[in-house]
Amino acid sequence: MKKNLIIFGTRPEAIKMAPLVEAFQNSADFVTKVCVTAQHREMLDQVLDFFDIHPDYDLDLMKPNQNLYSLTADIITKLKDILEEFKPDYVFVHGDTTTTMASSIAAFYSGAQVCHIEAGLRTFNKRAPFPEEMNRQVATSVCDYHFAPTQKAKENLINENIDERNIVVTGNTVIDALFYSSERVNLEIEGLQEIIEEGKKLILMTGHRRENHGERFVRICEALKEIAENNPEVQIIYPVHLNPNVQTPVYEILSGIKNVYLIDPLAYPAFVWLMNRAHLIITDSDGVQEEAPSLGKPVLVLRDITERPEAVEVGTVILVGTDKKRIVAEAQSLLTDSERYNEMSALHNPYGDGRACDRVVNFIRELTLNKDISPIATGA
Ligand code: UD1
Ligand code: UDP
Repeated sequence: MKKNLIIFGTRPEAIKMAPLVEAFQNSADFVTKVCVTAQHREMLDQVLDFFDIHPDYDLDLMKPNQNLYSLTADIITKLKDILEEFKPDYVFVHGDTTTTMASSIAAFYSGAQVCHIEAGLRTFNKRAPFPEEMNRQVATSVCDYHFAPTQKAKENLINENIDERNIVVTGNTVIDALFYSSERVNLEIEGLQEIIEEGKKLILMTGHRRENHGERFVRICEALKEIAENNPEVQIIYPVHLNPNVQTPVYEILSGIKNVYLIDPLAYPAFVWLMNRAHLIITDSDGVQEEAPSLGKPVLVLRDITERPEAVEVGTVILVGTDKKRIVAEAQSLLTDSERYNEMSALHNPYGDGRACDRVVNFIRELTLNKDISPIATGA
């Protein structure tokens, strides 16, 4: 029986890999194990708890304010023993984090076939997002099979000379996770009932991108402060990412404002519930940009470019960058101009139908049955 190893390390990878873990573990055709690098700790554990995933291997790597050099080295070094002991046929990595990049290299060294979930996203600017654009380009070079969330992502891969036979358009697995989570929320546990005021418009905020650390984050927080002060009848709820480069400016600038609620990161279903309850979402998060169109929620994206153009094209998402005036003006318009708001809040599903993981499992199953595909297609 073929052996799979699914590796992930951060909150978004865990959310997007959880339905794949379930899909593989429900299939009698494979032995599937899970390895977490724990590049994130608390935020990863929240997801593992909710999806009831018990990793077979936990590298427990997170350090306070960690750096890219040692994290990369630790992931590659620590994976060696696990890869040599378990000897997986297929290793699955996800997206564009340091865990993705380093695990894909380690898996390649081990001789396994390496599979990339959420492959083919590009800004074509290697410093934005930093270091994610480079991480996913490295993963593409190293991986044998590429599971692209959209047709556009597939086209990016074909333009980089990836053999079309090794690319499958699946939709994004985040939509599988979103559908699973929507009805499983327990608001009492998260303490949200005490905060939410019926009848008030809610703005939901998240942010963490490395290229926004420093001055850009200060401007974002000042914009939020102005939006809150101009609109005392609006609630802003902000589950603050645990990165100290985020925590420091957020708490310094936004603490003590009456209608701004700074809270700890929420468990996934509670966050999904809040997205559904929100009037408007302001974020630099990747996953949130993908989830919001499925929920019909307008999003102001705090970035200058995006590798997710689909939602911008259908009009649910606006790139506002980090200019304070622009953020305040766009938020104000969506709070007061109901015609514009209604146009933006139409439901769209550019990122999938909730069956992405089935498509991955089916492809790998076919691969194991069809001996011709694997060696020819990977050039081995
Ligand atoms: C990482 C990913 C980014 C992804 C994001 C999702 C890289 C380089 N960055 O960024 O691509 O979009 O996760 O959130 O791979 N921390 C905690 N507890 C946690 C998580 C983080 O305390 O559960 C703190 C720690 O001090 C840690 C720091 O945040 O050292 C930074 O974590 P890191 O994974 O390096 O960067 P992120 O900004 O989270
Ligand atoms: N999310 C969550 N709790 C929160 C904030 C976000 O579960 O308090 C989820 C969100 O729904 C999305 C994912 O975390 O699926 C996004 O993670 P993050 O913004 O950290 O990373 P990115 O997607 O930008 O890589």
